[in-house]
Amino acid sequence: PAADNPSVRRVSDWDAKRLRGLAAEYETPLYVQDLDRVRENCERLLGAFPDADVRYAVKAHTGRAVLEAVRDAGLDAECASAGEVDRALAAGFDGSRLHYTAVNPPARDLDYVVGVAAAEPDLTVTVGALDTLDRLAERGYDGRVCVRVNPGVGAGHHEKVTTGGAAKFGVPYDRAAEAAREAAERFDVVGVHAHAGSGIDPEQLDSHRELVARMGDLARELIDPDDGSADPLDLEYVDVGGGFGVPYEEDAPPLDLPAVAAATREAVAPLPASVDLAVEPGRYVVADAGVLLTRVNTVKPTPDETVVGVDAGMTDLLRPAMYDAYHPIANLGGGLERDGNDSPAPEDREATPVTVAGPICETGDTLCRNRALGDPTRGDLLAVGVAGAYGYEMASQYNSRPRPAEVALDDGTATVARRRETLGDLTAAERDANRHRAEGT
Ligand code: LLP
Repeated sequence: PAADNPSVRRVSDWDAKRLRGLAAEYETPLYVQDLDRVRENCERLLGAFPDADVRYAVKAHTGRAVLEAVRDAGLDAECASAGEVDRALAAGFDGSRLHYTAVNPPARDLDYVVGVAAAEPDLTVTVGALDTLDRLAERGYDGRVCVRVNPGVGAGHHEKVTTGGAAKFGVPYDRAAEAAREAAERFDVVGVHAHAGSGIDPEQLDSHRELVARMGDLARELIDPDDGSADPLDLEYVDVGGGFGVPYEEDAPPLDLPAVAAATREAVAPLPASVDLAVEPGRYVVADAGVLLTRVNTVKPTPDETVVGVDAGMTDLLRPAMYDAYHPIANLGGGLERDGNDSPAPEDREATPVTVAGPICETGDTLCRNRALGDPTRGDLLAVGVAGAYGYEMASQYNSRPRPAEVALDDGTATVARRRETLGDLTAAERDANRHRAEGT
């Protein structure tokens, strides 16, 4: 249980009765996000990195209530798009706490962010390609810039999210010092940045350490150039990215955050006192604070496997289909009576492995395969754990499926943080598509 190790919350640590009540009240599929757990995760990060800048990677969960909880906890916001900057501003982050990481930024995003910077000049734009500097200058921007570097080394739970080393992200390491100096001719260069990737587990710490060491070297070279020919830069921080993993498998060990923090400190090596270390975790803040509740609608035995059909699919939680990601699933029961008897509690039933499949017309639309889930019956409620990061955020309306509702728990009180979408929402942006419809349907 969570009480044994506060750094990990397993799906079995949630109050099953409460989750059953929420599913009954708000229907399924339903995301539940526990703000108290978000706050605990923030506290643990701030405790492990006491004198670093901790920035929340907003992309992991952009819900307003989550952003406000993170803001109140004292983290900054790292934003990947104009939309994320807009949400962070609305949630009360001021410019000094906003970091916009521009990856191949669309013109519209640059227009928007430069506009925001006019009112919030403490905002920082992190730039990973030299021509983005030109595009900023063309818009009259001459403010704070951080240079994103491709550190040549990466880590992550899947190659699709291993950013460090991928050419798409950042200025190549051996050109980074030159790029930062060039940028400093037109902008206020305040930092250097690199991100290894997402979901770094305890076995990948060597890559993380390598990245951090390289960034420390780069920062020292910029602050105090070797050859004396270049002007020193007045850096405020070295941002070594996010990516701290959380355990998804029931028996996976949690990341030892204090040990990661100590290794990070050691690897970055001494920096002038005026230069901060910065980290930008997303998943670590929100992942285990969220579950996705889904109802069993069909149970189909076949010669090869039993397929349990549920009302949540890849449109609600894309990670299993996209990365073959593992999410723990607990059967909270409550389903139909069988053979005229009350259905026994899931833990007392047979444990035949099953496939859990969603309602989407794609074979990849499975939440798990070959998993023993206490012989699910129709009507059982399943809780898909560790769904708080990149869950709702990656939801889509594919197959014309309205996105699910999300309930936030705050000090135990439930409120609808995002209402369930309606069929009308599906066509809201589509010309003439709603002519036949009464408002609100
Ligand atoms: N900083 C930057 C520049 C990033 O690109 C990311 C994540 C983070 C920080 C935060 O990484 P985290 O601490 O959350 O691992 N959809 C994928 C994850 C993609 C992450 C992309 N960038 C997933 O569901 O696993």
